Amino acid sequence: MTTKPAIEIVGLTKSFGDHVVLRGVDLRVRPGSIFALLGSNGAGKTTAVRILSTLLKADGGTATVNGYDVATEPERVRESISLTGQFAAVDEILTGRENLVLVAELRRLEDARGIADALLARFALTEAAGQRVATYSGGMRRRLDIAMSLIGNPPVLFLDEPTTGLDPQSRIEVWKTVRQLAGQGTTVLLTTQYLDEAEQLADRIAVLHEGRIIADGSLAELKRLLPPAEVEYVEKQPTLEDIFLAIVGHDGAADQGAQR
Ligand SMILES: Nc1ncnc2c1ncn2[C@@H]1O[C@H](COP(=O)(O)OP(=O)(O)OP(=O)(O)O)[C@@H](O)[C@H]1O
Ligand SMILES: [Mg+2]
Repeated sequence: MTTKPAIEIVGLTKSFGDHVVLRGVDLRVRPGSIFALLGSNGAGKTTAVRILSTLLKADGGTATVNGYDVATEPERVRESISLTGQFAAVDEILTGRENLVLVAELRRLEDARGIADALLARFALTEAAGQRVATYSGGMRRRLDIAMSLIGNPPVLFLDEPTTGLDPQSRIEVWKTVRQLAGQGTTVLLTTQYLDEAEQLADRIAVLHEGRIIADGSLAELKRLLPPAEVEYVEKQPTLEDIFLAIVGHDGAADQGAQR
């Protein structure tokens, strides 16, 4: 199939002063897929996401999102995307529900309260809905932030480290949501520092290193880059995460276990 990519980057470059961050990045993301961008701290992941979401101008190269050029059609790009930044962008003074209603109203959607209530339920925030966000934990803020980014069903979603700082249950909740969104046709580009997150979620994984993409492929393809390791047989021990989920007890644990 030759479907047009949802995101296409060719030869993208960006420097801050004489600090070269992106040295010619090329990427293609298929519509409805989940694409994980990996890289160490300072590799340039957020920089790339900011360029794709029109918050920052590239020095060279081209990038299109949903078929629109980020440099020449930024308005069109903005209508096509939603961005959840590395640091939550929720309003502290408003309650969780008020934040959601506000965004739904800004997007001129009908039934803003209904949309807000459905998202609050989906992210287990119904009980806290009437509290000011200033009183929320980091995980609650992150969930609210992602909920806000889903309002209006944009075709392309950028998630910059969506689960950093979340507890295992909330991470799995976010993963489920991301999978559902991709299943419905939303394209998701996420950055993460958790390799298991990329393994669990991504159809395709790219590694950004020293300003370039040094690996790009499905998990199976990336695994083939490494020589097969000699492994001794050891009985599979539960991971700390398995144990945590078993003792905390919740419904995400079962389908999680089935994939391991
Ligand atoms: N506005 C800016 N001005 C100057 N330097 C910047 C700016 N934004 C980012 N940088 C630098 O560019 C490099 C890449 O930063 P970026 O935030 O894109 O990395 P990252 O891959 O998202 O890292 P992390 O995993 O820590 O989030 C870093 O060295 C950073 O200090
Ligand atoms: Mg970053």
